[in-house]
Formats: sequence, structure tokens, C-alpha cells
Amino acid sequence: MSSREVPLSARVVVDPAAKIAAVGRRLFGSFVEHLGRCVYTGIYEPDHPTADDDGFRRDVLALTEELGVSVVRYPGGNFVSNYRWEDGVGPREHRPVRRDLAWRTIETNEIGLDEFVTWAGRAGVEPMLAVNLGTRGVAEALDLLEYANHPSGTALSDRRVRNGAPDPHGVRLWCLGNELDGPWQTGHKTAAEYGRLAAETARAMRQAEPDLELVACGSSGSSMPTFGSWEATVLEEAYDVVDYISLHAYYEEHDGDPATFLASSVDMDRFIDAVVATADHVRAKLGVSKRIHLSFDEWNVWYLSRFQSEGPEPGWPRAPRLLEDTYNVTDAVVVGSLLISLLRHADRVAVACQAQLVNVIAPIMTEPGGPAWRQTIFHPFAATARHASGDVLRLAVEAPTYETERFGEVPLVDAVATRDDEGAVLFVVNRSLEREVALTVDVRPLGSVAVAECLQLADADRHARNTAEAPDRVRPRRVSLDAPPADGELTMALPPVSWTMVRLVASPGS
Ligand code: AHR
Repeated sequence: MSSREVPLSARVVVDPAAKIAAVGRRLFGSFVEHLGRCVYTGIYEPDHPTADDDGFRRDVLALTEELGVSVVRYPGGNFVSNYRWEDGVGPREHRPVRRDLAWRTIETNEIGLDEFVTWAGRAGVEPMLAVNLGTRGVAEALDLLEYANHPSGTALSDRRVRNGAPDPHGVRLWCLGNELDGPWQTGHKTAAEYGRLAAETARAMRQAEPDLELVACGSSGSSMPTFGSWEATVLEEAYDVVDYISLHAYYEEHDGDPATFLASSVDMDRFIDAVVATADHVRAKLGVSKRIHLSFDEWNVWYLSRFQSEGPEPGWPRAPRLLEDTYNVTDAVVVGSLLISLLRHADRVAVACQAQLVNVIAPIMTEPGGPAWRQTIFHPFAATARHASGDVLRLAVEAPTYETERFGEVPLVDAVATRDDEGAVLFVVNRSLEREVALTVDVRPLGSVAVAECLQLADADRHARNTAEAPDRVRPRRVSLDAPPADGELTMALPPVSWTMVRLVASPGS
């Protein structure tokens, strides 16, 4: 056996005393934007063989449910910053066709607020709406709120009733604009301009409904030149009237540097820690007790540099194939590790939305008139959303490290666990490109437990993908482990570039 074949070893202790916070279901959110084929031929395709009476694809609804999504942000994204919500309500034949400046496409407005809320009900998810603070302001946000949430008896609520939605939509969670720190955003603003507008809008929305949950825009990425000062300025303006500050982060594998890509969650950890520190700094400065929580309302793997080098589609196409990244095994492992990072910050991250749900940088892909299938990244999300429950536990991980170009020395193994009345679940990744890691899990602090299930996503070809023709080429496999663990220690092999979930159930008498 050569030294490369000798497994490295790592060790974790699962200790119920190391509780971070309860697992919030809103950590498993997603995002539907009027972008490319996310809405049209994604969630909605009236001519599709599986379409329901409202034109929603039942196959996509079923996969959304299987994915375990809890909350879905809508309608953008960059799209919202030049969107008139009124265009998307009322009789379809009267809805205007518009240019969407964000993605240089034509928006038919066949789908709007009422249809989205209907879809959300059918998918069993909570809607999270964004108001346009790019080209619009306080008045239009109030109009939208009245239309969406007021029971009836006012001009706009009665309009909703006439449009076929007698019950108020009852939307609690609202984003105050999108990425207004970005020069690409229609209506891009300075931090002071945006902070002021966000505060005015939030105050007005709370006059109408005091118990709304409001998200102020943070930076559109931690590499923005204004990162840190943007959050501080915005929160100094809006601290008392908002609940959350947003974070957005996308990761991709750059040529020749898979090691950095596999350590993306290190960047996510640092990003979250920096925003928490900034929010708490403002809290101290203002001398208040309220804490701001985080809404990580866009995160994923996105091959953005490919999109940027290709540029937009020529002309003004309708529902073109935009941002349709096909994900591989490595991408799935990175998504699994980003979920580990989000869980580890469950004390401060209250909402997280993977961007996006279908076709556009998405776990679910569709063909118009054809099948819907699971991308590789679907699997760690679905398993984490389904099984992470109870409390998040911080794990002490002893693991070898490796060197990355962007983040310096990083542990090869990252892990988190959750624990509820039934038992505990361990989520773990091996970031090594070539070395297997022999992991020992000390479960003694949990008492007597047995292994209920071990799922592993790994492949001899880390570039393997799922396609319409081979939709299950990559999926997690069941691995058999000793059950119950010998001497309270569980050992398992973590293949190179792998994601693993182990479910432990409390044994009788424990
Ligand atoms: O999710 C794709 C885009 O990424 C969103 O529209 C925007 O908010 C972000 O830059």
C-alpha cells in the first residue's frame, strides 16, 4: 500500500451539551425569481402533461416537496428592482408585457403575486416577498402590502378579492429591496441612501402591520468594496425597524484551484461571523438590547464567471435558458458543506434561501414538455432539510489540514450534528481531493445509540453529473456501519470529495 492509499484519520465527539441553537426550519429556504426558466417552464407550464388546473407542473411540485423547502423568496433578485407588482395581478389578458432590464428578457407577467402565493400553498412553503426599492419606494411597498395582506374593504384589498383571492395572503417575511449595493442593480444606491429608504419603508410597513418581519439588504457579497461599512451604515439608519440583514454568496470552482472551492464554507463561516460582528457593533453603538439576525437569502454554487464571459442572450428573449448550471459531485459536496456552515450558525442565521429552485442555478431541472430531475446538489439539501432537527450541536473536529490559495490552512473534514428526542444526525464532508479519511465518531456522550442509516454521496469521478438522460447517475448510496457502535465509537470511511450523513437513534433503555 502506498502512503497515498493509507487513509488519514479524523475524530469528532458528539456531545449534546455543546448546543448552539434550535434548528430553524427557515434555514431550508429557496428562491423563485422571474429569471430565465425558473418561473416559465420551471414551476409553471400550462401545456405540460403534469400541469394542474392552474398550470403548475406537478412534477416540480413533487420534487419541491421532496427537497424539503420551507420558505421561498419571490419575485427577485435583480428582477425586483425594476418590477411593478401591479403588472402581475388581475385578468391575464390585461397584463402588460414588459422589458426586464436585469436579465434583458421579456416578462409576460402571466405569473404574478396571486399565482405565486397559490403555488406556494400547493408546495407547502411560506412565501417571502421582496419589494422594489430600486426604481420605487415607500408608497408602492405600502400598496403591495395592502393588496397582499389587508383582509378586504379597501381599494387594493378589494382588488385582490375581485382577482379571485378572497383571503389575505398573510405574508410575514419581506425583503426591503435586493442587492442595492451593486452597481448592476437598477436603482443602485449608496449605503446612506439605501439605509434611509429602507428605514422609511420599514417604518411605514410597520405602521400598517407592526408584526411583519423585515430584511434589510446587506452586501451582495463579502468581496464588495463597501462590505462591512454598508452593513454598519444601513443598520445605523434602520436598526430599530428591521429584524434581519441579508447576506448573499455564490461559490464556483476556478480552473486549477479545486482545493479552495472545496473550502467554500470557510468563507461562508467568516462572512457570517463578520456580519454578526458588524450588527453587534451597531447594537453596542446604539445602546440597545435587540439583536439583528441574518437572512442568508441567496447562497449556492454558481459558475458566475462563465455567465459573465458569455454575456446576455442577444435580443430580448422570453424565458431563455439562463444560468442553467449543471452540477457535479464536487458541487454537491460543497453545497453539503455550506449547509453545515448554515446549521453551525443557527443561533444567528434565521433564514437561508438556496438560489434558486428550478432551472436557474438550481437543484431541480426541467425540460419544457419533458421530464423534471434532481441535480447532484438536490441530495445533500434534501437529506439535511429532512433530518436536521431539534438542536444543532457544535462538534470538536480533530482532522488533518490542507493548504488553500484563498483561505490558508483548512481542516480536511468539516462536520455538524443535530439532536432531537429520537436521536442525533451527523453531517460531514471530506474535502480531500485524493485521500480517504477514516473518521472516528465518539458517541458516548449521547448514551446508548444505534445506527439507523448512513448515506454517502461520492463518486470515482468527481465531475460526474445528472442529466435528463441519466437523472440518477449521481445519488447518495447507503453505507452499512456497525450498529450499535462498538465501545461507543463509530468508525467510517469518508472517500475523497464526499458528503456523508449518519442517523443515530437512541437505543431502548438509554
Ligand atoms: O440568483 C441570481 C442573482 O444573483 C439574483 O438575481 C441577484 O440578487 C444575485 O446577484
